[in-house]
Amino acid sequence: MSESTEARPASRVLPHELPASLRDAGLDNWIREPLDDAVDRRRRIIMPPAAAVMGTPASAYQGALLAEARHPDTVFMMGDNPALPAMPARPTLKDFFELRFSKIARMHLLQSARVAREHGLDEKVIMACLLHDIAIAGLLSANHGYWGAQMVAPYVDEEVAWSIEKHEALRYFPDESVGYRYPDAYLDYFGPDYRPPGYIRREAQAARQHRWYMTSRLVTVNDIYSFDPGVVVDYGEFEDVVGRNFRQPSEGLGFDGSPVAHMWRTMIWPNNFL
Ligand SMILES: [Fe+2]
Ligand SMILES: [Fe+2]
Repeated sequence: MSESTEARPASRVLPHELPASLRDAGLDNWIREPLDDAVDRRRRIIMPPAAAVMGTPASAYQGALLAEARHPDTVFMMGDNPALPAMPARPTLKDFFELRFSKIARMHLLQSARVAREHGLDEKVIMACLLHDIAIAGLLSANHGYWGAQMVAPYVDEEVAWSIEKHEALRYFPDESVGYRYPDAYLDYFGPDYRPPGYIRREAQAARQHRWYMTSRLVTVNDIYSFDPGVVVDYGEFEDVVGRNFRQPSEGLGFDGSPVAHMWRTMIWPNNFL
């Protein structure tokens, strides 16, 4: 390929080849080539978050990705990633469900909430079911009960946030009084010999003594693991429950200055370098 040796403005620089080491590591998946919607026709690199790559070979490539950003045609991803649908200026819970969460996560939450409603349960339980795995859907899986509870705490009843936090630990422990057994799915996920660590056992024991125990227990009872792709639940089915049980901030989730606004912004712009 013949290239002019004249200096060209940065916006005219053509994309260069990625180093083979990055291509071999599959890291071209993390790089958005300068398409028509790119910023100043520059490629944008997504730096995988530490929590996603720690303990994997991908953690060795941080330096190589930093080096890529030194090219004049390359910057780190900041702001809207065109691969994701744009969020409105004042996002609501519905926007996160419809524009950010994967179909499987969205349907898991909606199907759980629908089962809770069909069982005639209290709206607090339905709301907790609708939100119980929100951290897995949009942020982080490890410690998801705790992340999820914090994320929604300013907007829901304290009992709802508490039951979301505790469902993670209670999920591992049967309660015959309500017909709750150890999940078959966990046998697949973790193997038959898995034993939850001490902190999870202590959390579950303490939760059992709490006055809100049954609210969280009912989240686990309605926490369905059989994702049925044939059952489509529309978010609109729960607009009324959300309206009564989730205080949407008028500035939009992520922009209300609450102690958890950064968590919602992380889901709006999950690929931001900083
Ligand atoms: Fe969960
Ligand atoms: Fe779940």
